[in-house]
Amino acid sequence: MLRKGGGAVKTELEVQSPGLPYDSVPRHSELSNQRSALSPQSSVLSPQHSSTVAAVTNLSKIYCKPGTTVEVAALRSINIDFKEGEYTAIMGASGSGKSTLMNILGCLDKPTHGSYTLGGQDVSAVTDDDLSEIRSRKIGFIFQNFNLIQQLTVLENLEVPMFYLGIPPAKRRERATELARRVGLTERLDHRPTQLSGGQQQRVCIARAMVNDPLIILADEPTGALDSKTGQQILALFDELVATGRTMLVVTHDPGVAARCHRVIRLHDGEIVSDERNAPTPSPSLGEGRGEGEARK
Ligand SMILES: Nc1ncnc2c1ncn2[C@@H]1O[C@H](COP(=O)(O)OP(=O)(O)OP(=O)(O)O)[C@@H](O)[C@H]1O
Ligand SMILES: [Mg+2]
Repeated sequence: MLRKGGGAVKTELEVQSPGLPYDSVPRHSELSNQRSALSPQSSVLSPQHSSTVAAVTNLSKIYCKPGTTVEVAALRSINIDFKEGEYTAIMGASGSGKSTLMNILGCLDKPTHGSYTLGGQDVSAVTDDDLSEIRSRKIGFIFQNFNLIQQLTVLENLEVPMFYLGIPPAKRRERATELARRVGLTERLDHRPTQLSGGQQQRVCIARAMVNDPLIILADEPTGALDSKTGQQILALFDELVATGRTMLVVTHDPGVAARCHRVIRLHDGEIVSDERNAPTPSPSLGEGRGEGEARK
């Protein structure tokens, strides 16, 4: 049973949670053109997709070394924007600032200097509560280590963020079931994360990232914990999302992942050192390996 404000659930789902009544949930129609997680458009990225979804200007993030006043510049005056439908890889050596950038783009953290505009709204100077609200409504997260709630089933994991968005129970169940179907988990709805393979758990994360019809989906090393075949299946799902017009950002160390993207940005020591267009590797058939045949862990 899900209870609003229920301690452990709320903590674990912090990044996808609290919200307003369902009726007040804004749709992102200005960007998504009536797009819905349940009935995706079959549009393909084209040059007309030029709406800016997210933009940072002169963005810096300065940390203090723990226990000292010594400053570490994790990001140094970055300027970048992301267009609707773009599929971007962020690469760079360990410590180059990739996660710091993702945390700011995902409204998990604020910049020290500079501005961040998401869906036309300047979110760099909002309160922490507002930031949390924006995060739960506009961002989808996919993590390397899944961050699923171990005590809950697939369906319940998908329903929790909808609960915090104030979506009524029947609608939650319907949407969770449909999202699970879309990622190939219809046969696993009542399984808990420990009863799923790594690839299946990542599918749940992908479905969970879609529940709020996000403006942008952020994935930090999404295939890092998966074997290469399962990783390919997850990337095929990403291709499918991108083909429906989703805007995606993927942090990766893997050139094979970056090769699938439209654009590759490289960071070094907190600065952008390259920003290149890619001719993406064609997507393999999506008909295979949708998860139902995968062995349980
Ligand atoms: N909370 C923090 N306090 C102090 N310094 C931090 C903090 N978070 C990150 N840093 C520093 O900021 C820099 C960038 O870190 P970040 O986590 O963004 O790197 P990354 O590119 O994601 O690396 P990796 O590939 O290893 O995940 C590093 O030098 C790191 O030590
Ligand atoms: Mg990182």
